[in-house]
Amino acid sequence: MKYFIGNWKMFGVPKSINILDKVNSFHKKDKNRKKYRVIFTPPFTLIESYAKFFKNKKILIGSQNCFQKDRFSSNTAAISPYMIKKVGANYTLVGHSDNRSEGDTDAMLKNKVFFALKNNLKVVFCIGENKIDKRNKKTFSVLKKQLISILEKKLDKKKIIVAYEPVWSIGTGKIPTKIELQKTTIHIKKILKKIFGKKSPAVLYGGSVDGNNVKMFREIKEIDGFLIGGASKSAKKFIDIIKNYYR
Ligand code: 13P
Repeated sequence: MKYFIGNWKMFGVPKSINILDKVNSFHKKDKNRKKYRVIFTPPFTLIESYAKFFKNKKILIGSQNCFQKDRFSSNTAAISPYMIKKVGANYTLVGHSDNRSEGDTDAMLKNKVFFALKNNLKVVFCIGENKIDKRNKKTFSVLKKQLISILEKKLDKKKIIVAYEPVWSIGTGKIPTKIELQKTTIHIKKILKKIFGKKSPAVLYGGSVDGNNVKMFREIKEIDGFLIGGASKSAKKFIDIIKNYYR
C-alpha cells in the first residue's frame, strides 16, 4: 500500500474542502485507487467538519500534531489525541520539523506517539536532518538517533508510518539525489527492522514533492509514499503527483 498525504500546515478555511472533494472525485474513478491511500491533515479548526464530510468516502483525515497528554488537562490551547480522535480523525503527524524547531523534545515526542496510539490514531512520525547535519555528513547518525529515541518494540508497528523529510528540502524546491534518497530510505528501514523485527513500517518521503520530480521518486522502490506540503493545497497539483507516480 502506498500513501499520499497532504499536509496543509497553516492553510485552509471551511470552503477549502472543495480541494479535497476534487481529489476524492479523481480517486473514485482512478483505476489505480486500490494501490494507495489518500490522507489530508488540515488545521485543527477543520478536522471535525472535513472528517464528517468524508466519513464514508475514501479520503482520511488526520491532524498535524497533538499534545503530549492523553485526554484533558489544564494546558491552554492544547489539543489531545483523545480530542482529535473524537472529532473523526484517524491519523496524526508527530515530530514535524516545524514543531521540532518550536521546541518538541524527545520526551514530548515519546508521549505524543504513545498517547496518539493509545487513542487509536495512526502516527506519521516525521524525521529528517537539517542542512548542517547534511554538510557534516551526519545524516545517518541523526536519523538513527531520531528513530531510536522515540520508537520501541512495544509500540504497534502496524499503526506507525515514518516520514523522512530532510529539513533543507521542505518548501525549498531542493531534493535529494536518487542515490542519496535510496540509500537513506534503506538505512531508515534497516533501523526500523532492528527496532520492530522483520517487516519495517512504511517509510514515506517528504520535501518539495511535485508532479515532476515524483517521476524520479517512483523509481525508488523502497519509498512507500509521500508527505506533500505546498502541492497539496491545489487539487490539480496533488492529483498530478498521483497520476505521474502511476504513469
Ligand atoms: P513541501 O512539500 O512544501 O516541501 O512540504 C513538505 C512538508 O513539510 C510536508 O509535511
